[in-house]
Amino acid sequence: MYRSHSCGELRASHINTEVILSGWVQKSRDKGFMIWVDLRDRYGITQLIFDEERTPKDMMEKAKSLGREFVIQVTGTVIERESKNDKMPTGEIEVLVSKLEILNAAKLPPFTIEDQTDGGEDIRMKYRYLDIRRNPVKENLIFRHKVTMEVRKFLSNQGFIEVETPYLIKSTPEGARDFVVPSRMNKGQFYALPQSPQTFKQLLMVGGMDKYFQIVKCFRDEDLRADRQPEFTQIDCEMAFVEQEDILNVFEAMTRHLLKEIHGINIEKFPRMLYDDAMRLYGNDKPDIRFGMQFGELNEVTKHKDFPVFNNAELVVGIAVPGGNVYTRKEIDALIDWVKRPQIGALGMVYCRVNEDGTFKSSVDKFYDETDLSKWAEITGAKAGDLICVLSGETNKVRAQLSALRMELATRLGLRKSNEFAPLWVVDFPLLELDEETGHYHAMHHPFTSPKPGQLEMLDTNPGAVKANAYDLVLNGNEIGGGSIRIHDKKTQATMLRHLGFSDENAKAQFGFLMDAFEYGAPPHGGLAFGLDRLVAILGGQETIRDFIAFPKNNSGRDVMIDAPAFIDEEQLKELNIKLDIQE
Ligand code: AMO
Repeated sequence: MYRSHSCGELRASHINTEVILSGWVQKSRDKGFMIWVDLRDRYGITQLIFDEERTPKDMMEKAKSLGREFVIQVTGTVIERESKNDKMPTGEIEVLVSKLEILNAAKLPPFTIEDQTDGGEDIRMKYRYLDIRRNPVKENLIFRHKVTMEVRKFLSNQGFIEVETPYLIKSTPEGARDFVVPSRMNKGQFYALPQSPQTFKQLLMVGGMDKYFQIVKCFRDEDLRADRQPEFTQIDCEMAFVEQEDILNVFEAMTRHLLKEIHGINIEKFPRMLYDDAMRLYGNDKPDIRFGMQFGELNEVTKHKDFPVFNNAELVVGIAVPGGNVYTRKEIDALIDWVKRPQIGALGMVYCRVNEDGTFKSSVDKFYDETDLSKWAEITGAKAGDLICVLSGETNKVRAQLSALRMELATRLGLRKSNEFAPLWVVDFPLLELDEETGHYHAMHHPFTSPKPGQLEMLDTNPGAVKANAYDLVLNGNEIGGGSIRIHDKKTQATMLRHLGFSDENAKAQFGFLMDAFEYGAPPHGGLAFGLDRLVAILGGQETIRDFIAFPKNNSGRDVMIDAPAFIDEEQLKELNIKLDIQE
């Protein structure tokens, strides 16, 4: 037997009990005549004691030889501590060791295995298994398990069946590039790893599964950010015989269940916002509604004065920064520099102080008088003591810029509280999105999403205006899930693909299997997928999903621990009929 108890378990009630513990040496303090060792496992830390009077000499020597992270097993008696530590659950006791066995020695770890470590991100990722021994990482993984268990419990109770779908498939377009896998048995041919199980879950509906879910890995070759990994996990769901309302209700209930179980928070009804309103009021399709600072469009009250910048702009839009009038001129200049950084790309920023006495002082006083500025305040909701920040230019760009500024200021002002949760459904997304570079439309969600009833014909006349039966679930300014009601008949699917620029031949080659299935009794169906990593991170009060993934990739898509991706040897390439021609 390696252990009778865990290192987090022993209390005063165990005093005088003989125990066996196994774990890692967190640290030891050697006073010569007495040695204390903190023994750690997943469950906690227990203090061991060796002393000259009660411990045989050879064991004393062995105890002195213990280094950090040695794996040991001890037998001993639980005794009362002389100086108790009320910060530790096991702080009332210690174990007087009678037998010590070194199970495995350890090299000195490259960083300290403590909550506040001295190890930087790179080194911790290279030795991730050591990082996982640290409480913050370990607790995030346990937290992820808890969320996943609650999801499985909830969906199973609702009659959902978890079905696995294949990883070696053909491209499923979700807007990213595919990772591909060469087939040895089919020369020159490649599988694609799924960007999502989208087509399979639809086929499961044709198969009559009715309510499906899967906690599933998805693979997307796209630029990485704090909330994106090349392989990530979805809670993928699909239901048959449903309308949008049914889907929103089920998954709102699931999210409510999680908030209740995990945080004890009750949120009665999630607000819903039209996509168009989200863009107009927050410049963003995933607004953080934990705080206000809504956009106020100022075109009407700024144009036709003598200020050419605003007169020539498609959109003039501002936000009121609560208490922002305390900013010094220097601080405001720094803010202007911030919006002018290439990542944000604004050409400049106009501002207007709302003084405590209700008067105004703007950076464009030459063009606008008190009456004009009072209208800015009215529209942006600025009160005495606030600062109005105004950007102008092309609508889409300015909205994105002001949205970034809004989030930045809210972060600085402490308005994005990690223990506050503000879920929101964003509905009625456009069906298509114009690719600025190519001038072509592509599906905003994916090509299987149905247009709003009666809008299919508009695809020919005004494609950009067609709305989709598509919805996103937003939590604290992050898109944690998205889905749609699907097209379930061959004709509409073929029309849709044609509008997305697929030739009939191409459509058949890529999606013939799905359209064929639609001819054998496909029920109306729809669903959505949550990003599990994002959901877990946000429920955990953070936004970097890497911290909630056991073995994540870095920003270049590398696993620095196992050093992947890597070259493969000539033999393997030959077997796969692949010739490399790498040009830098
Ligand atoms: P979508 O592409 O919106 O929908 O993806 C669903 C959710 O997955 C998460 N997500 C990611 N998380 C981490 N890293 C990534 N690279 C990444 N990409 C997406 C997001 C997102 O909301 N098949 C459809 C779902 C459906 O229509 O039912 C789909 O995949 O949280």
